[in-house]
Amino acid sequence: MKALILSGGHGTRLRPLTYSQQKQLIPVANKPVLFYAIEDVIEAGIKDIGIIVGPNRDQVIETVKSVDWDANIEFIYQGDPLGLAHAILVAEEFLDDEEFVMYLGDNILKDGIVEHARRFKELNPDSLILLTEVDEPQRFGVAELDENGKVKRLIEKPKVPPSNYALVGIYFFKPIIIEACKNIKPSWRNELEITDAIQWLIDKGYRVEASIVKGWWKDTGKPEDILEANRLVLDEIESEIKGSLDNSKVIGRVVIKEGSIIKNSTVKGPCIIGKNCEVVDSYIGPYTSVGNNCKVIGTEIEDSVIMEGSKIINAGRIIESLIGRGVTIQKGDSKPTGQRFVVGDNSNIVL
Ligand code: DAU
Repeated sequence: MKALILSGGHGTRLRPLTYSQQKQLIPVANKPVLFYAIEDVIEAGIKDIGIIVGPNRDQVIETVKSVDWDANIEFIYQGDPLGLAHAILVAEEFLDDEEFVMYLGDNILKDGIVEHARRFKELNPDSLILLTEVDEPQRFGVAELDENGKVKRLIEKPKVPPSNYALVGIYFFKPIIIEACKNIKPSWRNELEITDAIQWLIDKGYRVEASIVKGWWKDTGKPEDILEANRLVLDEIESEIKGSLDNSKVIGRVVIKEGSIIKNSTVKGPCIIGKNCEVVDSYIGPYTSVGNNCKVIGTEIEDSVIMEGSKIINAGRIIESLIGRGVTIQKGDSKPTGQRFVVGDNSNIVL
């Protein structure tokens, strides 16, 4: 079996972060979201992985290549994101008439895909879709099941959802899906929808089975989803203190990586502090991820994601925040007093 992981698209709902960073590279517990997908498919024993890349392809290729993966990884250029079914068509040569799992690179799944890959082999359907019950089904593709749990109909982002079963962004396919993708028309949002291609399979009498996801699942499409995914992943971390502590207190499960110095501070887990950080006179609280090379001085931070190379100095108390790379937030002391900002387009500041 092969794997096709999608890392294209524009990530408009995650602006301004995605002006400069491909959305699947945003870190959750200090690891790019995309890496969770790669790890899951490798864990399922898949050795041939195609990664769909879009306009920011260089960034994705460079980040993926910075790790020595136990698999062959090929990058497939899609260009504009014309839909999930379009991504399959672009990958036709790579897929080479083999069965495959398609994994959306902005999805994170607690328990991985081993169990579902086993079910796909066992049931041997033309497609196996993963479903999970959600509170806001209108945000997703939704499945209508019959009384025996068989998939009857799939609808993309319905205004009136026929059930609470959302399509998780992980799909197993036989090569027939390529014919399905060739036979559908673009949707109202001008995309070739994978839901329409799977519906084509159902309508033509091909067998589509469902597998219910039991552990948590997160589509990291919006800022609050990143924070929630960060909480869920941090909830499962094990303590590991490699940095040094000076007159500081560590409570609960905390990861502090090599080269980081924690001075006159309290760090309360679950949280992670990356490499070569400096935390002085501060409090780093639960559900916080601090990326490599950050400086936190005289500040309290809780329930937040602070990305690589940022400096937060005497900034009071920061909660539920997503802070990009190389950001500086500090209290100024020059007159006149007041808040001074240099803020990118579509930023969001709550004072
Ligand atoms: O996350 C689950 C949902 O993903 C499903 O419930 C929906 O049925 C499915 O259509 C999809 O909906 P989204 O609106 O969340 O898809 P999005 O446009 O965010 O794209 C999903 C991922 O695939 C994202 O990482 C970007 C990438 N992508 C997307 C498109 C449209 C590509 O690489 N190429 C594309 O053409």
